[in-house]
Amino acid sequence: MRIVFLGDIVGNTGLKAVDAYFPEILKRFKPDLTIANAENAAASGRGLTPRIAEQLFDKGIEILTLGNHAWDSREIYSYLEREKRIVRPANFPGNPPGIGFTICKVNGFDVAIVNLLGRVFMSDYDSPFACIDGIVRELRESRGIRHIFVDFHAETSSEKMSFAWHVTGKVSAVVGTHTHVQTADERILGGGTAYLTDAGMTGAYDGIIGMKKEPVLHRFLTQMPVRFEVEQGRLQLHGACIDLDEKGHATHIERISCKPL
Ligand SMILES: [Fe+2]
Ligand SMILES: [Fe+2]
Repeated sequence: MRIVFLGDIVGNTGLKAVDAYFPEILKRFKPDLTIANAENAAASGRGLTPRIAEQLFDKGIEILTLGNHAWDSREIYSYLEREKRIVRPANFPGNPPGIGFTICKVNGFDVAIVNLLGRVFMSDYDSPFACIDGIVRELRESRGIRHIFVDFHAETSSEKMSFAWHVTGKVSAVVGTHTHVQTADERILGGGTAYLTDAGMTGAYDGIIGMKKEPVLHRFLTQMPVRFEVEQGRLQLHGACIDLDEKGHATHIERISCKPL
C-alpha cells in the first residue's frame, strides 16, 4: 500500500497550496492513504479549527495529525472528542481531548496512525519512547496490527533519529514534522522502517517557516513580543510517499518536494 504524507500545512496559504498541488499529487502517486500534519492549518497558522479540518477532509486528505499547536484553537477541543480522523500527540500529559492514535482500513489492512511529541527544546511532555512502547504493544501484540505510521513532531534531528532507531522493525514509518524544513535523509532503516527526519511544510515559500519575515526578524533583533502573520504569495508543498508490503514493512520512501508556484 502507498501512503502520502504532507508536512505541516501552515495557515490559509497552506490551504491554497493544498488546492494548487494536491490533485496532481493524487494523480502522480495514486496513494491508498493520505495523511497531513494540520497543527498550523487554521487561517492564522495557529492550531486547527473544525471548519478547516472539514475542508481538508473534503479536499481528499483522510487523516490529520497535530503537534505542539494542537490546543491553540479552543473550538477543536470538543470536536477532537468525536472526530476519529484527527490524531493529537499521544504523549501529551494528563488526559487531553482526542486520541493519540487512530486506526483505519486500507486495502483490507488495519493501519494505525500515531502522533507523538519530542521533548528536546520543547516542553515537558511524557516520554515519547515509553509512550510508543505501550502503543506498539497494544497495536501489534493485542490487536495484530503491523501497519503503523508515526508522525514524530520534534525539534531536533538527534531526537528524531534516536526515536526512529528505538522503533525500527516495530513500526512501518517514522516521519518527522515541526521544523517546517524538509531534510534530505530519507531511508529505510534495518527492520523495514521508513524514515525521514522532517517532511517539511505546505504553505508559503517566501516567509520564515510559513510566516511573514518582518515580525519574525523583529523578534530576533529586539526580543520584543510580536504577533506573527501567515506569509502569502508563492506556494510550496512538501511531504513523503511511502510504500508498505503486506507485513507492514516499508519497501520504498521518497520525498515530495514540489517546485514553488
Ligand atoms: Fe508546525
Ligand atoms: Fe510544531
